Amino acid sequence: MAKELVRVLVTGAAGQIGYALVPMIARGVMLGSDQPVILHMLDIPPAAEALNGVKMELVDAAFPLLKGVVATTDVVEACTGVNVAVMVGGFPRKEGMERKDVMSKNVSIYKSQASALEQHAAPNCKVLVVANPANTNALILKEFAPSIPAKNITCLTRLDHNRALGQISERLNVQVSDVKNAIIWGNHSSTQYPDVNHASVKTPSGEKPVRELVKDDGWLNGEFITTVQQRGAAIIKARKLSSALSAASAACDHIRDWVLGTPEGTWVSMGVYSDGSYNVPSGLIYSFPVTCHNGDWKIVQGLAIDEFSRKKLDLTGAELSEEKELAYSCLS
Ligand code: NAD
Ligand code: LMR
Repeated sequence: MAKELVRVLVTGAAGQIGYALVPMIARGVMLGSDQPVILHMLDIPPAAEALNGVKMELVDAAFPLLKGVVATTDVVEACTGVNVAVMVGGFPRKEGMERKDVMSKNVSIYKSQASALEQHAAPNCKVLVVANPANTNALILKEFAPSIPAKNITCLTRLDHNRALGQISERLNVQVSDVKNAIIWGNHSSTQYPDVNHASVKTPSGEKPVRELVKDDGWLNGEFITTVQQRGAAIIKARKLSSALSAASAACDHIRDWVLGTPEGTWVSMGVYSDGSYNVPSGLIYSFPVTCHNGDWKIVQGLAIDEFSRKKLDLTGAELSEEKELAYSCLS
């Protein structure tokens, strides 16, 4: 029997992540190759013509799974009936800008879009915030959409997670698909903590810890961490634009695993509403290792946190608490 249609909202759909993301969704990369979708694309009036161009291209691509396209600058029309909302719309960071510089522009967008989602999205809509500052935008969205369950509001740190897997794969000259269970803790910012203390690699003689294979704690505790933390800035420097294809691909990974489940024995990183696990302050959107089953995520519990890691978890948590305060001061 054919699956029920799923409506997927992409805000900022005329932007560069949007342009990479919508064909992935229409091809089944996000929700599966048997899942028909209707795309809802939102952008602002100055981008209306470009948005219509994206719609024309979607028609021209003749995607078999794509059953309809709503391209609009009206937030209510965009949010109506959506089952999945990928919030990409906002101002991107440019070369030389700190993430905090984009805060005031973006949190007010997330406050107003929170109410549109709350009132018009389908019940149980899953929300992924991509636009920066991603964790804090997601928190603002959550706070101003109190009837959406907190577990339905997440932010993207899967790109950082994938970057960590990519760095390990390059260092060990192994397939990236054989590396698993890295963790991104905290903020999608340069204070995030990419942790490989529990990560492993599939080898012909079984799964081996990353630390045992790399045999260089200096690199793992130093350059590896800063490379992942600074990767977004490095891409901006190289492209003069922020990452787009990898961000779009990570957004698909995030939603796919959330909806369809994580493979047995594997966790992924998601920015989720903290409940005090690992002594992270509650009430923040903080990136944790999670497993997903039946459409719900669960924080992986019981991982050992050494002193080095503890400091890094606390540092990125402190930054998120500061961002929360700053966000509220921008909104007042
Ligand atoms: P972009 O400027 O190319 O596109 C952003 C789009 O959002 C534009 O088309 C713009 O018109 C639209 N927009 C602005 N205000 C809007 C509003 N109120 N409603 C709807 N649309 C609106 O930027 P991009 O490169 O696509 O990046 C988008 C966001 O994603 C940025 O904030 C960027 O920093 C962030 N980002 C996050 C990650 C992550 O891993 N979390 C990775 C890369 C980029
Ligand atoms: C990224 O990680 O590539 C983006 O979030 C860009 C940025 O602002 O760092």
